[in-house]
Amino acid sequence: MAEIIDIKVNGERHRVEAEADMPLLYLLRNKLELNGPKYGCGMEQCGSCMVLLNGKAMPSCVIPGSAAAVYEVVTLDGLARDGKLSVVQKAFVDEQSAQCGYCMNGMIMSATALLAENPKPSDAEIRQALNRVLCRCGTHTRIINAVKKAATEMNGAKSAGKP
Ligand code: FES
Ligand code: FES
Repeated sequence: MAEIIDIKVNGERHRVEAEADMPLLYLLRNKLELNGPKYGCGMEQCGSCMVLLNGKAMPSCVIPGSAAAVYEVVTLDGLARDGKLSVVQKAFVDEQSAQCGYCMNGMIMSATALLAENPKPSDAEIRQALNRVLCRCGTHTRIINAVKKAATEMNGAKSAGKP
């Protein structure tokens, strides 16, 4: 049965009418038109549907939208500020990390969560943080380079006193 789900996404509260067990991924894409997270497997196996729940990268295909109401949800669509890409998004563009692009949502959301928690990750830590996201095109080297570039830029901005 449909119910009203009160959910905060990308800093804005929404009241959405949906079935309580509707996956968060469907709620975001079909009800809120936030198409950053992608449908890949629907079984927590590919990572293309990643969102941030209170800052942690989580697959939105297996979490009911009603259960996500207790979290601050951030999607790929919410990372840019005032039309400016986030440091991580820009690094992925600069490093031309995408081939088909289907995994980019999961990679960028996972990298964003990693760098918020661990600003100077080792290569092994980057690989570990991204290992829930499948890239079928094999652009892993460019993806890792992008995460390292974003880390360098964020650490440089911090030491220069920028927000
Ligand atoms: S669609 Fe969610 S993990 Fe694959
Ligand atoms: S760029 Fe195609 S799946 Fe990763």
